[in-house]
Amino acid sequence: MSIGIVPSILSADFTRLGEQVREAEAAGCARIQVDVMDGHFVPNITMGPLVVEAVRRCCTVPIEAHLMITQPERYVADFAQAGADVIIVHLEAAPHLHRLLQQIKGLGKQAGVALNPATPAVLLDEVWDLLDLVLVMTVNPGFGGQAFIPAMLPKLTAVRRLVNERGLACDIEVDGGIGPQTIGLVAAAGANLAVAGSAVFNQTRSVRENLRQLKDLA
Ligand code: DX5
Repeated sequence: MSIGIVPSILSADFTRLGEQVREAEAAGCARIQVDVMDGHFVPNITMGPLVVEAVRRCCTVPIEAHLMITQPERYVADFAQAGADVIIVHLEAAPHLHRLLQQIKGLGKQAGVALNPATPAVLLDEVWDLLDLVLVMTVNPGFGGQAFIPAMLPKLTAVRRLVNERGLACDIEVDGGIGPQTIGLVAAAGANLAVAGSAVFNQTRSVRENLRQLKDLA
């Protein structure tokens, strides 16, 4: 299974965000992910539609807005307007998930659902027909640089098996603790997209070198 690397800008150097995004695109990233956090759904506050607009102006690859926020239904239109191509909401923050996914699709955007580590994939049973992407969190969301949770691998494999058995055109993405030690594990378990923040944007090597290493190891 070939896997696309999706740099998340959470760990980027925000004093030169445009340069870092352009470096990632030039190095062959599949997409860019903007990690949106509201300090309610997760214990951190990060960025909003303004940053999606800025990233949109400096790359041509698809942009994912990963909404780690409560009441995402209030904001999906703003992120669509800002230029996000894929809008990912958390199942745990969406009591009316079916309607929310319809809302995202109605905006002409791809709809994704993220599952926190404790959330079983069976809760997606009634919305598979609306899904363009499932994001299996491999950390508890809120911060970059956390340790990968290996117990998520069986969940990832089960999601891949279900998508294949049903012949669904649904991306399977992982997010959290993805680096040289774990990229091979998630590729083998069935992910076709992998979000990586601190493994791509760090002070030890260039974005290009980091992306090349992840792609080679995948
Ligand atoms: C949720 C965030 C992080 C980030 C990736 O906490 O969404 O998962 O994207 O961070 P790394 O790749 O540094 O674990």
